[in-house]
Amino acid sequence: MASPAASTAKSSPKEAVPVGLAARQAAWQVLQAVASGAYADAALERELQRSKLEPADRALVTELAYGAIRQRRLLDAWLDQVGKVPARKQPPKLRWLLHLGLYQLLFSARVPASAAVSTTVELAKRGGLARLAPVANGMLRAVLRRREEVAPGEVDAGSSGAAAAALEPWLGLDLPSDPAEALALRRSLPLWLAALLREWLSADRAEAFALACNQPPPLDLRVNSLRCSSEQLLTVLKEAGVEAEPIAGLSAGIHLSGRTGDLRRLPGFGEGHWCVQDRAAQRIALLLEPQPGHQVLDACAAPGGKSTHLAELMGDRGTIWAVDRSEARLERVRRNADRLGLSCIRTMAAEAQHLTEQKPQWLGHFDRILLDAPCSGLGTLARHADARWRITPEAIEELTALQRQLLEGMLPLLASKGRLVYATCTVHPAENCELLAAFLADHPDWHLISSSQSWPGDAAGGDGFYAAVIERRS
Ligand SMILES: C[S@@+](CC[C@H](N)C(=O)[O-])C[C@H]1O[C@@H](n2cnc3c(N)ncnc32)[C@H](O)[C@@H]1O
Repeated sequence: MASPAASTAKSSPKEAVPVGLAARQAAWQVLQAVASGAYADAALERELQRSKLEPADRALVTELAYGAIRQRRLLDAWLDQVGKVPARKQPPKLRWLLHLGLYQLLFSARVPASAAVSTTVELAKRGGLARLAPVANGMLRAVLRRREEVAPGEVDAGSSGAAAAALEPWLGLDLPSDPAEALALRRSLPLWLAALLREWLSADRAEAFALACNQPPPLDLRVNSLRCSSEQLLTVLKEAGVEAEPIAGLSAGIHLSGRTGDLRRLPGFGEGHWCVQDRAAQRIALLLEPQPGHQVLDACAAPGGKSTHLAELMGDRGTIWAVDRSEARLERVRRNADRLGLSCIRTMAAEAQHLTEQKPQWLGHFDRILLDAPCSGLGTLARHADARWRITPEAIEELTALQRQLLEGMLPLLASKGRLVYATCTVHPAENCELLAAFLADHPDWHLISSSQSWPGDAAGGDGFYAAVIERRS
């Protein structure tokens, strides 16, 4: 059984490896890989496969790696304020190691302060930074001292993780006076995003959004109504000791609380009784009101969460064309459809904005079209620890041009009485309501039936999603 504390494993003193060190070593590797351009989920997966750790240690690697990546801005601010050299000028290996140690000191309720410091120093010694081990030790202790000065008696090297994590992680830091800069620093967001949040939302909702982005996202399932009912699934999950409850307002939605381990081992997975889908994403296919026998186009379909939902709602009768530009990702659509026992989904690799040229026989063909457009993903930052550091305002501008082209490309494909849903998993108005407003202004023959925007941090929980239902005027 792994322990996050840095006690020493029972082996000969020379070979002694502090318990939990391998997990921290793996998390450090993930931070380095992500800093060199790897995607966080791919880097974590690779490291977990390579390190062959026990389940409890795998959970620790995930918590530390994702947590430290999310908190990069705040952790850098600490290094800037306690170090002689700014974080960005530190040797990168040391910077990421310090992030790992600091993350534990500031956030991890289960790691005592002494263990956070000692394992970081030990990793420095074993990981090619022996000369810098005293620097690592000095900086982590300087952070502890700063926090002790501000909250005397509440935190020091002997503190439990729970005591340290109960204090705000920025306690002891000098905060900027500008509200957006302070939000960016406290909640570890890029400044451009914090500034936009302050424009779009009240101070409280901006804070709730930022907080939601820094927490592991809720885990929701969608029951495959063709194979199982929600009641049946809730019963077998409970029998298997999994905490689960229905999601209000979603007949197929089930929320899993507590630890679940490998989801593929849960009852009903192999039998295709359910799939993982966030509650906000589960609302999108419903907006199309698809009927058995319909011809449906899902224009940006991979990995197939919404195609499979549409197929379930249609009783697997009719045809769903699942189009995506990525053939590799379409393979996931086929695998998911197979597992769920759905046969009405057909796949095609194509740039969806050019479908009219590629498939002239599709002109006016579809009863329903879903355009779940590629987007900045600002509504799903909690799911992608590194996403906030990748996306830029310039990239969003490019995306809006593609989104508009995709939307225009769908119009000739819809039957005259058909319905089109434009959806994204972002909260940026330029990709959502503003894009739709410009589109409708240029197309007076189309009208908006409804639109909605959910935000991370809202009471309903779940990702941030936008959806607009549009139809041609009769
Ligand atoms: C938001 S994801 C779709 C998620 C999917 N609808 C689901 O529910 O599982 C966007 C998808 O658009 C695809 N994509 C991006 N540009 C595209 C284009 N020009 N034509 C078709 N697909 C595109 C990406 O490969 C990606 O799989």
